[in-house]
Amino acid sequence: MTTEAVVDLAALGEDFRRDPYPLYAELRARGPVHRVLMPEGHEAWLVVGYEAGRAALSDARLSKVWAKAAPRLELRQKAAGRTMLSSDPPSHTRLRRLAAREFTPRRVAAMEPRVREIAGGLLDAMAAEPSRRADLVDALAFPLPIAVICELLGVPFLDHDRFRHWSNTSLGGAEPDARRAAEEALNGYLGALLAAKRAMHGDDLMSALIHTADEDGDRLSGEELLGMAWLLLVAGHETTVNLIANGVLALLTHPDQWAALRADPDGLLDGAVEEILRYDGPVETTTFRFTTEPVPIGGAVIPGDGQLVLIAIGDAGRDGARFPGPDAFDIRRDTRGHLAFGHGLHYCLGAPLARLEARIALRGLLERFPGLALDADPGTLSRRGGLLIRGPERLPVRW
Ligand code: HEM
Repeated sequence: MTTEAVVDLAALGEDFRRDPYPLYAELRARGPVHRVLMPEGHEAWLVVGYEAGRAALSDARLSKVWAKAAPRLELRQKAAGRTMLSSDPPSHTRLRRLAAREFTPRRVAAMEPRVREIAGGLLDAMAAEPSRRADLVDALAFPLPIAVICELLGVPFLDHDRFRHWSNTSLGGAEPDARRAAEEALNGYLGALLAAKRAMHGDDLMSALIHTADEDGDRLSGEELLGMAWLLLVAGHETTVNLIANGVLALLTHPDQWAALRADPDGLLDGAVEEILRYDGPVETTTFRFTTEPVPIGGAVIPGDGQLVLIAIGDAGRDGARFPGPDAFDIRRDTRGHLAFGHGLHYCLGAPLARLEARIALRGLLERFPGLALDADPGTLSRRGGLLIRGPERLPVRW
């Protein structure tokens, strides 16, 4: 055990939300693991630093199954059924294998023209704005990923608005009652959608997952399909929103980098997206893990009785031992090995899609809004709450 006091992250307030990296660096200088009180009120162990974070991400003593959580944590899992992100092997292996049969790089590549078309429509609407001002979150970063997920799930076009409303309400910061009502509506909608797709095979990912079977004839159950639909929605939505928003914010606050990217998008765009992921990625700390036996990290031992462990992958990207001059935003740097998509068994299944969406969104902005500028003092932008997802609530821009 460590004798260090518990760090109350909620007490750090808006300064910490806006820029958590100095605090993480301070903790890292003291050691790789710290007890923290999360803004949501749970006590957890926070792993900082690149090496310790990478090791913890692939440590089999840290379970993803919520039933392993110590009862005193009183955790309530969201209505997402059983998913690969809340399973350990062998369950995880099976769910991931079945999903990966269909969610292939080839399927993602085939979506490129549609993603381009959706982004093009959003950029057209933005360009038509007579004030030449917009909130970039509202105009592009938010609607693009949800439209892409609708395509993946095969949500008919006429239902997009309802679907978007429910998913925003259930995943966003709405009041508990409104959130529960939206969660129920979305659950009912997804159940009916799956039933309809079972009867009539479409060419979307969800239809493919309904009908997929591995060599032994193993298939996803109804409950697993519902869990999968929820996981794709949750994992693929807020993350991509904030990859785009954090990326635009980083580029506009580093005009030399924006200019370099404009001058050579073919040569620099892929690297720029990776640098955004390293420098200010959308996932600040991982999803929950629980100890199933004592886990020594650095000089401390986390007890093995279902303690909650979080890995600060945002800090891993800022560890100077791995990325020299880590606080400089440099789209030409070597970012290989960053942990923004996780590492090990639960490495992000949607990484190719997230990269595709971010590249298309950024390229569209570079080409159509070369004079894009921030329309607010970056120091005043408020950030989303919570430790999991990191990004600005609004991003006012002008051109
Ligand atoms: C920039 C965007 C994204 C980022 C930064 C991101 C990041 C991550 C991270 C860090 C994990 C691992 C969490 C952990 O180990 O605790 C993860 C898992 C996952 N992500 Fe993503 N993600 C993004 C977009 C997407 C998209 C677009 C999809 C699909 C539509 C997706 C689907 C998944 C799934 C299914 C898992 C669970 C994998 C497993 O448990 O084996 N993600 N993601």
